[in-house]
Amino acid sequence: MKSMNGAAQPMDPREFVLSDAEFERLRALVHRSTGIALSDAKRELVYGRLSRRLRALKLATFREYCDMVESGHPEELEALTNAITTNLTAFFREDHHFRQLAGEVLPQVLAERGAARRLRIWSAGCSTGEEPYSIAMTLRGAFAQIGEWDARILATDIDSNVLAKAARGEYSAEAAAKMPKDRLERWFKPGAGGSTFVAAQELKNLIAFKQLNLLHDWPMKGPFDAIFCRNVVIYFDKDTQRRLFDRMADLQAPGAWLFIGHSENLFNVSSRYKLVGRTAYRRI
Ligand SMILES: C[S@@+](CC[C@H](N)C(=O)[O-])C[C@H]1O[C@@H](n2cnc3c(N)ncnc32)[C@H](O)[C@@H]1O
Repeated sequence: MKSMNGAAQPMDPREFVLSDAEFERLRALVHRSTGIALSDAKRELVYGRLSRRLRALKLATFREYCDMVESGHPEELEALTNAITTNLTAFFREDHHFRQLAGEVLPQVLAERGAARRLRIWSAGCSTGEEPYSIAMTLRGAFAQIGEWDARILATDIDSNVLAKAARGEYSAEAAAKMPKDRLERWFKPGAGGSTFVAAQELKNLIAFKQLNLLHDWPMKGPFDAIFCRNVVIYFDKDTQRRLFDRMADLQAPGAWLFIGHSENLFNVSSRYKLVGRTAYRRI
């Protein structure tokens, strides 16, 4: 490349330019549509993940991309959302919550509502499904009569790609290795190619996977005996978190449980839950 006076200029190694103004536009778009507050530190991540979208759409600039999404292309807004979400998860992540589910939540539900035989758990921000399948394994393992109950795990996420994978219930050997071997052998069978593991129908039968943006209206009425909303609100600003936990509290009866992520807390966010263990709360 040459400058106006003919001197050699170093080549910009970047394929696209993401200006401050375009980053701000993308940041506003993502915040409006998902609640995710992108910090300056996420600029490289945004560049990397959205460069792929520009290439796929054969666009030359981020400006064109911003124009396109802002002018209302629902399918591209979905692709943008899927590209920006962080989906890291694992089977039995923060295992103490599953021990509490078996040892405290289930006995409480049995004692208080054994006659109604109804159990509802919500995995809000379920990503690729490891969390709801871990809940299902815990319930089946701890309570043999669950099949005779009206028991359901609602598993929701905004990201349509991870949700499709969650519904398939097929996992790599690497993902499966995160769970104890006895559980893997009991609840999964080898996939068609031999290198993957597929969740048993008994687990799938307990779970309803649905796409749901936590910022939008929620179709469900509850009440939920337990809500797992872990490692989701960490990406939201405090006001969004306040509204979210207030709405969750509306879907729970006093005494019901809420589990949040290891680096999250409800201090200055919600006074409707009381802390009862490590990142474990009960509705007041
Ligand atoms: C890091 S994963 C957490 C998965 C699991 N709960 C765990 O703790 O292992 C966060 C998930 O929240 C989802 N998410 C982000 N914003 C959301 C929103 N507005 N509505 C619903 N889900 C959202 C993402 O798509 C992502 O799959």
